[in-house]
Amino acid sequence: MKMTRTVFVTGGAGYIGSHCIVELLKADYDVVVIDNFTNSVGVCDGESAALKRVEEITGKKIHFYKVDLLDKDALYGVFQKHQIDCVIHFAAMKAVDESIEYPLLYYKNNLIGMLNLLEVMTDHKCYQLVFSSSCTVYGEPEECPVTENHATGRNITNVYGKTKYFVEEMLQDISYSDEKWNIIALRYFNPVGAHPSGLIGEDPTKPFSNIMPFISQVAIGNKPVLTIFGGDYDTVDGTGVRDYIHVMDLARGHVAALSLLFKKHQKIKVYNLGTGRGVSVLQLVKAFEKVTNMTVPYQIAERREGDISIMYANAELAEKELGWTAVHSLEDMCADFWRWQKMNPQGYRTKDIKLNNSH
Ligand SMILES: NC(=O)c1ccc[n+]([C@@H]2O[C@H](COP(=O)([O-])OP(=O)(O)OC[C@H]3O[C@@H](n4cnc5c(N)ncnc54)[C@H](O)[C@@H]3O)[C@@H](O)[C@H]2O)c1
Repeated sequence: MKMTRTVFVTGGAGYIGSHCIVELLKADYDVVVIDNFTNSVGVCDGESAALKRVEEITGKKIHFYKVDLLDKDALYGVFQKHQIDCVIHFAAMKAVDESIEYPLLYYKNNLIGMLNLLEVMTDHKCYQLVFSSSCTVYGEPEECPVTENHATGRNITNVYGKTKYFVEEMLQDISYSDEKWNIIALRYFNPVGAHPSGLIGEDPTKPFSNIMPFISQVAIGNKPVLTIFGGDYDTVDGTGVRDYIHVMDLARGHVAALSLLFKKHQKIKVYNLGTGRGVSVLQLVKAFEKVTNMTVPYQIAERREGDISIMYANAELAEKELGWTAVHSLEDMCADFWRWQKMNPQGYRTKDIKLNNSH
């Protein structure tokens, strides 16, 4: 009988997936990864720099396949090769602006990809799933902190968020139709930061406006000035308020979710993963400046279409039922991201830095 549990990770070469795999390997799971590299840089000879570095950090091997979720036969082939106990589904396209411009691309990738995965899982009698959802499913929330009971699907301001909402609905429906399903959807708030080793971090391929990479690109001199969208929101200083969460806290949240899935059958459960603290963009910039002892020049621009003013989590359910709580401070998030940026000024395109296994 197989002793080690095998987790199938989609989109594992990406930002959150790669950090999560570090924690999965530490928790002694066997990890099988697929990614099509649509949003991954540092790919060389079909290998992902992020995953190579995860192997360096952990001293463990990852089974990797370059597979697109839209290629159902290839996906099926990987399930035939490994005895999969559980799936963590990160793979999705996630750029909000791009999703408004190319809705069909987003619906195809995020919805058909999910459908293919669910069908292949069913064919292989694998019914345990952790899904990467997002606080965007709450739309513009009626109150903050927002709990899991808040209405979803209303006033979602972009196509990306709608794909998350539709997938959640799909998962609710299959869990009612067949009680073998055991699903946890994790609604992430705003993941930032990097692994404390500085070896892996966020390295977006597309022109980006994610706040933390933007701040640190300005700090390192690759961009002249930080643009903050909206300075007239009804918040502490006029800038938008979010719940920033360290990516390593998020990674631990997935390990906690897996433990619960293997312990308890709940059909489908949804948990917020956030810190419960609202932080304005300017407060984040100030924290970054304090930690790095640098000045980040910024300009305030018009509000961006689709942005909301305030969003932060009530994460008490995750604490109660997953035994999980975010432990990292805003300063940790800034310091760890800055370490990653300094060690890798061009992200994964930076010429390989010396790696060792002491992390
Ligand atoms: N980063 C955030 O702010 C945030 C917030 C909430 C939810 N999420 C969700 O978390 C998940 C992971 O996000 P991330 O920040 O790591 O994004 P990411 O873009 O860094 O990682 C996603 C990975 O999925 C891969 N992928 C996309 N479509 C694929 C397909 N059809 N087949 C195979 N691989 C595919 C990409 O190449 C990429 O490596 C996504 O589902 C995202 O929507 C992210």
